[in-house]
Amino acid sequence: MLYSNLNNENLKIGVFDSGIGGLTVLAELKKKLPEEEFVYLGDTARVPYGTRSPETVIRYARSCTNFLINKGIKLLIIACNTASSYALDTIKGEIQIPVIGVVEPGAKAVIKKTKNKRVGIIGTEGTINSQSYEKVIKNIAKDINIFTMACPLFVPLVEEGWTEGEIPSMVARKYLTPIIEEGIDTLLLGCTHYPLLKRTIQVTFSEVYIEIVDSAEETAREVVNLLQSCKLMRKDIKIIEEKRIKYFVTDAPEKFKKIGNRFLKENIEHVEWIDIPIML
Ligand code: DGL
Repeated sequence: MLYSNLNNENLKIGVFDSGIGGLTVLAELKKKLPEEEFVYLGDTARVPYGTRSPETVIRYARSCTNFLINKGIKLLIIACNTASSYALDTIKGEIQIPVIGVVEPGAKAVIKKTKNKRVGIIGTEGTINSQSYEKVIKNIAKDINIFTMACPLFVPLVEEGWTEGEIPSMVARKYLTPIIEEGIDTLLLGCTHYPLLKRTIQVTFSEVYIEIVDSAEETAREVVNLLQSCKLMRKDIKIIEEKRIKYFVTDAPEKFKKIGNRFLKENIEHVEWIDIPIML
């Protein structure tokens, strides 16, 4: 079992993802929490999580958690949909600081947005197979009809930088037509990478009006509420902007920097390579 008794408002917030995608969540967190410092871990040596078994994802998530806990953090954010789907409950039971995943905030956002109560959820194979979003949504609003689709080619497209143009548009049409034909009015991007395809999805299906929602903004909102309610909001500390976020990856820091700039929409200056032991 992993323990942290640290409950100090001046500690950093820990964020991890299987790789780069969690930067879409970090970007929202940075905006909403200008006083906070972050430590981000991208498990780039083991990405993708989306095609792996629940047991493997739990082991990976536990290793990332252990690394961040040892950095001394006051709150953990699992910024990966697949890891949130498979490992959130396990991690919550094993550490003593608050943990937030991205599934619940995303699910709440679609419930708020839908008017016709027909929603589409897209994500990795792992996220879709876990039915994590359905479970949260049905718990809160039984009358919502949910249509899901795994979109495994979206992650490599985004990683390659192919977020606009003919190819991503064709792939989006292939994956999304069946759920759009169900008459959904809201589509949840249940994967860290998909916000970068939002424009392409909108353009590809410009003939129908669909509200596109991603978990990042809603997660950041939930983090603000939690920090306030737990009295963990940092105050009166001078922030040195360049030192505000520390980045760690388990492989290829240069590639992380290059692609990461697109996710974060700003330059990432320094990324440290680290090796983390896999925990059983
Ligand atoms: N971060 C993952 C997610 O949000 C996508 C990439 C992966 O498969 O690891 O599900």
